[in-house]
Amino acid sequence: QLSKLEILAQKNQEALLGGGQARIDAQHKKGKLTARERIDLLLDEGSFEEIGKFVMHRSKDFGLDKEYYLGDGVVTGYGTVNGRLVYVFSQDFTVFGGSLSETHAEKIVKIMDLAMKNGAPVIGLNDSGGARIQEGVVSLGGYADIFYKNTLASGVVPQLSAIMGPCAGGAVYSPAITDFILMVEDTSYMFVTGPNVVKTVTHENVTSEELGGASTHSTKSGVTHFTAPNEVACINQLKALLSYMPQNCEETAPVVPYEAGQDESRAVLDSIIPDNPNQPYDIREVIEGIIDTDSFLEVHQNFAENIVVGFARLGGRSIGIVGNQPAVLAGVLDINASTKAARFVRFCDSFNIPLLVLEDVPGFLPGTDQEWRGIITNGAKLLYAFCEATVPRITVITRKAYGGAYDVMNSKHIGADMNYAWPTAEIAVMGAKGAAEIIFKREIAAAEDPEAKLQEKVDEYQQKFATPYRAAHRGFVDEVILPSQTRQKLIRAFKMLENKVDTLPRKKHGNIPL
Ligand code: COA
Repeated sequence: QLSKLEILAQKNQEALLGGGQARIDAQHKKGKLTARERIDLLLDEGSFEEIGKFVMHRSKDFGLDKEYYLGDGVVTGYGTVNGRLVYVFSQDFTVFGGSLSETHAEKIVKIMDLAMKNGAPVIGLNDSGGARIQEGVVSLGGYADIFYKNTLASGVVPQLSAIMGPCAGGAVYSPAITDFILMVEDTSYMFVTGPNVVKTVTHENVTSEELGGASTHSTKSGVTHFTAPNEVACINQLKALLSYMPQNCEETAPVVPYEAGQDESRAVLDSIIPDNPNQPYDIREVIEGIIDTDSFLEVHQNFAENIVVGFARLGGRSIGIVGNQPAVLAGVLDINASTKAARFVRFCDSFNIPLLVLEDVPGFLPGTDQEWRGIITNGAKLLYAFCEATVPRITVITRKAYGGAYDVMNSKHIGADMNYAWPTAEIAVMGAKGAAEIIFKREIAAAEDPEAKLQEKVDEYQQKFATPYRAAHRGFVDEVILPSQTRQKLIRAFKMLENKVDTLPRKKHGNIPL
């Protein structure tokens, strides 16, 4: 006869084993950690407090009345990451393949409710075979309960999803609604329907990895924001990501102590822009030259590489950076670049992270592919996202700011607080050659030497408009600065904007062009 204390100890022991040692071994064999091992890696040592450890499912069909596991396939609770409170759920693949039952869902919803009431991030570690097939509609209801909470929590507390195994069918839509998705290479995949269904419906032969592995979603679809070579690296990314964001929408991100130097000038910035305006350079060099050393955490690194977005610190404070990337497609804005940047801008605005925009954009990408797939609607997303952002917003025009893209990229006109330009900036309706060909078409055609005439007109347009000064005369650019001064200027300007208050007109919610 066990004592009452011994019964508790035994139950605790049983819960720790999830689906049993054999299944834990199988999990390890696949190169995967268990739900609890992942939580241990994520949270500060000894900080985890579990909630709902003894929860069990209530199903009776298909033999489930004989198969019960304490916890029902998900470990939930709270703890700290670098001393800051987070709520976490970690699906346990050793219990019914981590499949989601009614009670499994209830556990997740419970910590989401706590997270929203107490204002702290929710981190989901996903590893699941999807809806608990034996339960039918109640498990689908459980998913919907989670989606609904994800949506209510969106913009209230940060929500991060790490995918560490299968995530298929309905299961994908919870991560999709959260702010960031991280996937582990080779051991995780996400898709709405798996390879077998794909074969039946579209006759395509595709592997799970090709259809929805980390590399697919980080390059082709943009579904995942980060990939990691293994689970430990993935969990470290989660921690790094958290360090840039506040606990909730009412707070600001933590500040890392920073001792301002006497001289914050960065000479390296003076020589990055090539003399030839058509020669590319890597915007990351500009970013690195401006921000605190090694503080850049790039988001969506391999997707829509013609725009670079990510978090950084400037004088110890978190900022979000959006930069056109002249090294890829000349930094042109296309559908993917617009939606990638729009989503990032909206995250930063939701969570009070000031925005820095580095602009070198020749315009929107022309062509039937883009037009037919809706560059108009999609480009408008980025425009809309900037327009409605009320966080401190600063733009630095490093080189080209052409056409409608000039307006879109956080121009003064759509509410940017400070706009700087480098002396290399060219702020015009289009590049000088294109402009000259259109407005001097007849003159050039009639000339004895059309080539020479064209060049003359190009030079004329270039001198007049391919500079920052027309915009500066109008006040559309607040100051033309030396590249080397940029860091100093930005540190001061963001400090000046620290207490910015700006509100949108009262409304139910806006209608961003989706
Ligand atoms: N519901 C109930 N149990 C499930 C499950 C589900 N959705 N998915 C997996 N399981 C169980 C399996 O029966 C197995 O149980 P066991 O340990 O008692 O043998 C265990 O989880 C592990 O699954 P297994 O198929 O052996 O693992 P795998 O790594 O070979 O394959 C999956 C993983 C996810 C690809 C595979 O289990 C699968 O296709 N599951 C169904 C996915 C699905 O269609 N879900 C519903 C759509 S939302």
